[in-house]
Amino acid sequence: MTSITLRRPDDMHLHLRDGAMLEAVLPESARHFARAIVMPNLVPPVVTAAQAAAYRDRILAALPEGMAFEPLMTLYLTETTDPEDVAAAAAGGLVRAVKLYPAGATTNSQSGVRDFDRVCGVLERMAAIGLPLCVHGEVTDPAVDIFDREAVFIDRVLDPVRRATPGLRVVLEHVTTAEGVAYVQEGGDTLAGTITTHHLILNRNHILAGGIRPHDYCLPVAKRETHRLALRAAAVSGDPRFFLGTDSAPHPDPLKEHACGCAGCFTATNTMALLAHVFEEEGALGRLEGFTSLNGAAFYRLAPNEGRIALERTGEPARWPEKITTGAGPVTVFNPGFPVYWQVKD
Ligand code: NCD
Ligand code: ZN
Repeated sequence: MTSITLRRPDDMHLHLRDGAMLEAVLPESARHFARAIVMPNLVPPVVTAAQAAAYRDRILAALPEGMAFEPLMTLYLTETTDPEDVAAAAAGGLVRAVKLYPAGATTNSQSGVRDFDRVCGVLERMAAIGLPLCVHGEVTDPAVDIFDREAVFIDRVLDPVRRATPGLRVVLEHVTTAEGVAYVQEGGDTLAGTITTHHLILNRNHILAGGIRPHDYCLPVAKRETHRLALRAAAVSGDPRFFLGTDSAPHPDPLKEHACGCAGCFTATNTMALLAHVFEEEGALGRLEGFTSLNGAAFYRLAPNEGRIALERTGEPARWPEKITTGAGPVTVFNPGFPVYWQVKD
């Protein structure tokens, strides 16, 4: 196949940040994606409906003339989140999901949840109205090895929360393990999982063998090769409960190339080309549209986008900038480490 046309994709997990960073990274997503589930882990976090409305306005104000993009807003769950505020924001269509960060699990998660008993009222209300809970699925217990934190979270937290809240619709975000894939596969129609582009490409050797590569470091951290292969199999399987959430998470280079570097891979610029490469490798180009443009919309109960994008196979390796310039400093674009012969047609 030398070209493929897809419904315009949705990114069901995206970090757009704010201010100068927002201005620079938003066009990188809006160029290819029609909509995105926008993460609320700003400083301070997006906790209330009023904060979500103001953030949505800032995103739309930062959108360049002539580009179309719909931000699908989320609220950051805290132990003092008001169920009424959540329900009102969802009823008006402003908010499409609530995001659960275990406190301390990742970037800007300090205001997240420590005691899960304190959020059951909100979760019950969400179950009643069908509002999805997006979950950063890692325990923060320092005694648990970082490569085991997702699997332990499923047993210790996610499964008990789901059992205690029947009907709660959950997205296990950025699944990185075979255990996470299996849990989603067995979870019935109230559970889905997003998979990032970079977790289809990286295993932990890429980060650590032959020198440390800070731009490949994200959370949840990439696991061993068997897990990457399980993620690939899930992504290309056609199972509608798996869909794209890039988790594109820009940080300025000085904060990535640092003694204590930030977690996050910036993939907005080249995600669609990389996914075409991966799906072609797996002999599954025909299933790319489901993964990027249909399954996520269906889970979030949105109509698929009417627009289309085309990807073409190129004779020369595709090129993209090594870095993008932002008012907050340079941001390195994810480098897969191999040539890619697909690009989105303008
Ligand atoms: C994200 C960020 O930088 O906000 N980082 C990451 O490594 N994925 C936070 C997150 O989604 O965990
Ligand atoms: Zn994220």
